Amino acid sequence: MRAAMMTEHGGNEFLKVDEVADPQIKSGQVLVRVHAASVNPIDWKVGQGYFGLIPGQKMPCILGSDFSGVIEVLGHGVTGFAVGDEVMGLVAGGVGHTFAERLAVSAKMIVKKPANLSHAEAACLPLVGATSLNLLRNKVRPGDRVMIVGASGGVGSFAVQYAKAQGAEVIATCSAANHELVTGLGADRVIDYHATNPADEVEQVKILFDTVGSLDPEEYWSRMARGGVIGSTGTGPRDMDALVERYGKKIWLMAGMVDALKQKFRGKRRHGVNYKMVFGMPGKSAMTEIARVAEAGAVKAVIQKQFPLADIKQAFELSQSGRVAGKLIIDLTDAG
Ligand SMILES: NC(=O)c1ccc[n+]([C@@H]2O[C@H](COP(=O)([O-])OP(=O)(O)OC[C@H]3O[C@@H](n4cnc5c(N)ncnc54)[C@H](OP(=O)(O)O)[C@@H]3O)[C@@H](O)[C@H]2O)c1
Repeated sequence: MRAAMMTEHGGNEFLKVDEVADPQIKSGQVLVRVHAASVNPIDWKVGQGYFGLIPGQKMPCILGSDFSGVIEVLGHGVTGFAVGDEVMGLVAGGVGHTFAERLAVSAKMIVKKPANLSHAEAACLPLVGATSLNLLRNKVRPGDRVMIVGASGGVGSFAVQYAKAQGAEVIATCSAANHELVTGLGADRVIDYHATNPADEVEQVKILFDTVGSLDPEEYWSRMARGGVIGSTGTGPRDMDALVERYGKKIWLMAGMVDALKQKFRGKRRHGVNYKMVFGMPGKSAMTEIARVAEAGAVKAVIQKQFPLADIKQAFELSQSGRVAGKLIIDLTDAG
């Protein structure tokens, strides 16, 4: 089969598309013919060696996190699925091996793809959806003010729609060029963070979701409703680059987690506001909820561009620009 893999940790020059052996399934797994996989920043961050502690990075390593495809073989003990089922899922951030024509994946990580979604649309949702659920699932009451920072990105575009579906009043931040997109996703108010500091524009926010991951909570404590929560996909306020520069690639994440813990204590003690790191966790429960809201039309996939597998480097470069609106898709039916 064809697959995109890192030959060693480093820049995009080490990302190669090549012929490799099909994966072997173990008990409890299914073999999937992958049709589409989405690009998530964690894919190239893992490739660059920023998450050395995550297992499964033996080189050459096939990157990728989430996918949509069709079951070709059922492993021993798998129930609830049949050969030919269209399925979607999240394997693992960055090391999920989804940028390949075939994937061996635990049946616990997948659900049937909603029929109203194409494979490309379904592949957009698992990681960004699981991340959004981690902060927003069953936490939003109708009328709650929810603020989504980075609303035009992969996580943000899911989060805006998911918060709205739960009845929130949604305030979103993005560049002016993406206002129409984000309004179309259901945001009640959109703030151009280049033109004004969003912290000066809001008050009584119940849930603040920093999907960019480098917001300084100090600016927002007094803008939050008591009992509210700030969630971050990073460790804020020091972003990955600042932490790596200070501590190196090996332990930057630990230092960031300590930062996040300090914010949590500070927020709770002084302001009655929680602070939480937000993770996209794989699993049946999250995938079932993502499929449910997608099937109901409450959350739609936003695809900026699709690339054949052979052009995955271009997709990574675009993702690395930090300017993607919605998601980038790798088309594995066009593997060259
Ligand atoms: N912890 C986890 O488990 C987890 C899970 C998923 C993602 N993440 C991390 O979360 C971050 C976002 O992921 P993603 O998939 O959403 O990335 P993405 O799709 O590449 O995000 C791109 C978007 O970020 C926006 N953006 C950049 N800087 C901004 C700022 N200062 N304020 C508002 N918007 C800004 C851009 O908006 P404009 O062009 O409109 O400015 C662009 O639309 C990444 O660092 C990723 O690694 C972590």
